[in-house]
Amino acid sequence: MMKTIIEPFRIKTVEPIRFTTEEERENILKEAGYNPFLFHADDVLIDLLTDSGTAAMSAKQWSGIMDGDESYAGARSFYRFENAVRDITGYTFIIPTHQGRAAEKILFTILGKEGKSIPNNTHFDTTRANIEYSGAEAVDLVIEEGKDPNSLHPFKGNMDINKLEKFIQETGAENIPIGMMTVTNNAGGGQPVSMENLREVRDVFHKYNIPFFLDACRFAENAYFIKLREKGYGDKSVKEIAQEMFSLADGCTMSAKKDALVNMGGFIAMNDEKLAQLSRNILIVTEGFPTYGGLAGRDLEAIAQGLEEVVDEHYLRYRLRSVEYLGEKLIDAGVPILQPPGGHAIYINAKEFTPHIPPEHFPGQALVCELFRFGGIRAVEIGSVMFGKHDKKTGAFIPASMELVRLAIPRRVYTQSHIDYVVEVIIEIFKRREALCGYKITYEAPMLRHFTALFEPIT
Ligand code: F0G
Repeated sequence: MMKTIIEPFRIKTVEPIRFTTEEERENILKEAGYNPFLFHADDVLIDLLTDSGTAAMSAKQWSGIMDGDESYAGARSFYRFENAVRDITGYTFIIPTHQGRAAEKILFTILGKEGKSIPNNTHFDTTRANIEYSGAEAVDLVIEEGKDPNSLHPFKGNMDINKLEKFIQETGAENIPIGMMTVTNNAGGGQPVSMENLREVRDVFHKYNIPFFLDACRFAENAYFIKLREKGYGDKSVKEIAQEMFSLADGCTMSAKKDALVNMGGFIAMNDEKLAQLSRNILIVTEGFPTYGGLAGRDLEAIAQGLEEVVDEHYLRYRLRSVEYLGEKLIDAGVPILQPPGGHAIYINAKEFTPHIPPEHFPGQALVCELFRFGGIRAVEIGSVMFGKHDKKTGAFIPASMELVRLAIPRRVYTQSHIDYVVEVIIEIFKRREALCGYKITYEAPMLRHFTALFEPIT
């Protein structure tokens, strides 16, 4: 077999990107309060803010867009969507939502409330926010290796089974309305979960009659990691592996903006009829009728087609390799990254990149700003800006467990030379990293503050 892994597509439509000067970018940063979420996207050269909703759709998905059935009820596109989701997940009840967090909102409106706790390997920020908004508590039980940026454990997204057992016994199963696993574990570095761990976690939850759901955004990337790394799965197809993953759970929430290769969409799926009924009741008042749920018929077509394309192994081989390629180049240059490379992103370890900036001065934010100022690259801080807190009693700053800068790679969007450029920018910044300064927050919202916070450099 040839060593070079090529993009398994050719490009039919292109979109220009805009070049700016360093001086222009300094002004853009200042005007946006040093928060990349507040940039105009047109000002960004290479946008690695997120892999969510940023995929390039295929010609077949675009033709599906034209073919979408926009009937209010019972649209043909819904049935195609339902079949595609059922084919992979095996679940009985499939409920479309406008994106992942809408699925979460429905689930936790039903199951969450004051006094309840919901464990996960690591909750993503919207999942955590939806749980906390319901009054319940979001608990992370990832294995210790998952919190060590340098551990090379092949499945750093795994849950710690002993911690889970202990947690259930201490909390009481009656206070745990549902348990979850995020595949891959985004907040923990896009790290996969093994089939063995999913099985063990399922066994523990089911022993205590706790329903078990997957947060399945990146199920195909996780399934491909299982194929590459877990004994006994090398000869199985990714689709079979994905089907087995879903079969271990009782349902899932899904942001289709990731592994369904679309720009908008999501769903919640399950086998429990009563839960499905309650979900549809909320769906009707918040999202829409159950056969479109906050989406247009054309979106449902694109999701159905995307779910077929995402389990293609040529695609997944290219996908995981292109992320790993970025990681390898950075490791070779001595840049500290969370190892091993994740499925959708590389996470720079800002704590080690800029050890002179303490967590309360947001080392990740410092690097994010410099990536844009120097190279026009937009990344996102996943550290104390996103997850840092203040003690409710003492007001003392509690930093996040890791200070990371995520370079999320949109699916099928950038070529190898774009990535080579990103590598060059990071290495140049790394050489003069001592010159980077910390930041302070001048405005923050009470929840999900990273989206709208304003900053000032500490000079
Ligand atoms: N769960 C995980 C693991 C996610 O990564 C996301 C979104 C969601 C749920 C929510 O889905 O955006 O469709 O409402 N993650 C994006 C990101 C925003 O950049 O990682 P959504």
